[in-house]
Amino acid sequence: MMTNYETYRLNFEKEVQPLIKEMEAYAEKQFIPIMDRIGIETFISLLTIQKPTTLLEIGSAIGYSAIRLAQADSQLHIATIERDEERHAKAVHYIERAKLNDRISLFKDDALTLDTTSLPFACFDACFIDAAKGQYKRFFEKYEPLVKTGGIIYCDNMFMHGLVFLEDQEVPKRSRTMIRNLKAFTKWIMDNPEYETSLLPVGDGILIARKN
Ligand SMILES: C[S@@+](CC[C@H](N)C(=O)[O-])C[C@H]1O[C@@H](n2cnc3c(N)ncnc32)[C@H](O)[C@@H]1O
Repeated sequence: MMTNYETYRLNFEKEVQPLIKEMEAYAEKQFIPIMDRIGIETFISLLTIQKPTTLLEIGSAIGYSAIRLAQADSQLHIATIERDEERHAKAVHYIERAKLNDRISLFKDDALTLDTTSLPFACFDACFIDAAKGQYKRFFEKYEPLVKTGGIIYCDNMFMHGLVFLEDQEVPKRSRTMIRNLKAFTKWIMDNPEYETSLLPVGDGILIARKN
């Protein structure tokens, strides 16, 4: 007779892992920017320490991070927002195949204009911002009131593949405003006394801001 752990591993290797690999291959082929392996594994570890039961994600893309996080913690409920129609449709498809519809609520909307009363929870233990990098401050200001005191806001791609370390004139023109905004957001949140903030130099840079 198999132990619970053996059953879990068998199920993970046979069903879960192939789906994850398929999603990674799809994202690579279609140039969809999902969290990198080191980033997602680190984020899963951070959530194992924080143990949120509710998480709001801004920027689902094809549902990769939401699925990985929900698989890693069977108590976690996720609401996730994606504005792109095609990516949203793909996320619906993958979340169904992962059999996680009961714990992942997906919204097809612009997170900057979404009516927050339509979300499944009035407040969240954690928020993960992973959408348009030049808009991080706007996402933060809109969604931070929904995060509980003591809750944590995480942001990915804080380094933007190294572009934030360049001087302004060295940044390609098309990315300049976005990088300026991202740098200004980083300074603003690091100096914000309402948050305990650190910047983890793993993956593409993960910001962790705990609400005091
Ligand atoms: C980096 S991808 C998200 C990756 C995903 N979190 C993962 O790791 O699997 C960013 C996504 O945010 C979406 N996005 C950008 N701005 C948005 C907005 N204002 N509202 C909703 N989604 C947005 C983009 O369409 C894109 O699919």
